[in-house]
Amino acid sequence: MSFPRHRYRRLRQTESLRALVRETSLEPADFIAPFFLVPGEGVRQPVPSMPGVDRVSPDLAAEDARGLAALGIRGVILFGIPETKDAEGSPSADPDGPVCRAIRAIKSAAPSLVVFTDVCLCEYTSHGHCGLLNGQQIDNDATLGVLAKEALAHARAGADVVAPSDMMDGRVAAIRTALDAEGFSSVPILSYAAKYASGFYGPFREAAESTPAFGDRRGYQMDPANAREAIKEILADVEEGADMVMVKPAMSYLDVVRAAREATLLPLAVYNVSGEYAMVKAAAANGWIDGKRVTLELLTSMKRAGADMILTYHAREAAEWLA
Ligand code: PBG
Repeated sequence: MSFPRHRYRRLRQTESLRALVRETSLEPADFIAPFFLVPGEGVRQPVPSMPGVDRVSPDLAAEDARGLAALGIRGVILFGIPETKDAEGSPSADPDGPVCRAIRAIKSAAPSLVVFTDVCLCEYTSHGHCGLLNGQQIDNDATLGVLAKEALAHARAGADVVAPSDMMDGRVAAIRTALDAEGFSSVPILSYAAKYASGFYGPFREAAESTPAFGDRRGYQMDPANAREAIKEILADVEEGADMVMVKPAMSYLDVVRAAREATLLPLAVYNVSGEYAMVKAAAANGWIDGKRVTLELLTSMKRAGADMILTYHAREAAEWLA
């Protein structure tokens, strides 16, 4: 019989005691902060559905990044909103596009930050899909070369890590081969290995202007009902040469995060996506939840599930709260 000899409340009596037996830690170094980059200079445009998140030009991104580094954040991930789009997503490899300019600006303003870049075509294609079209179909194999060019452009601009999020089959191998052939064998790949076709990306698509013009992404992103398939995706990307893998979204997929943690020894990232952020902000703004408390609880749950790092729009405020 455990009770009354065992009383679990004994170890919960003071904050110091609770801190000593705490199983999961949360610190600013766990966070990777997303940036939405727009062309120009001195541009800052708030994203209405994501209070506290702005679209910024590369110069202001560099300033913001310096502030994040001072808070102990170690990583940022860049998304670009280009001036023009076309059917092939060719602006994705523009060395003077907002992402490449921001890489250079951030690396010079805050050299210690690890600069990740999102490698995908949806922000760059006129139709908003993550790959090239063949009629109404997304052509997997034709897309691989374009993704590899985008990743190369980022590496040439100085990106520390490239992160493909398109969910085409074989893109990790294609990007690895291209990077190695061009002298970038030291640039790691963080693969969005298990990325679900999720309703939680809504606010991101508004911010990144990447809503598909027709259809949806269910033909390439994963079915939310599947967990075993996520492990197949992860193991395939490991096989293809991924250095780190990601599960996305986070909140509703913590079982997948745990399974991923057990299936691979590679570092594991989780993406606390835009819709998750928007829900917390909306409820907090209404006074229905305590925003700080709920945010830290959510981020802790992602670490507890097995994530080593969290891509999150809460990065700055959470780092401030944890200081
Ligand atoms: C695709 C991409 C998306 C997100 C990150 N990379 C959107 C999508 O697949 O439609 C979503 C991130 C978020 O919702 O915060 N480039």
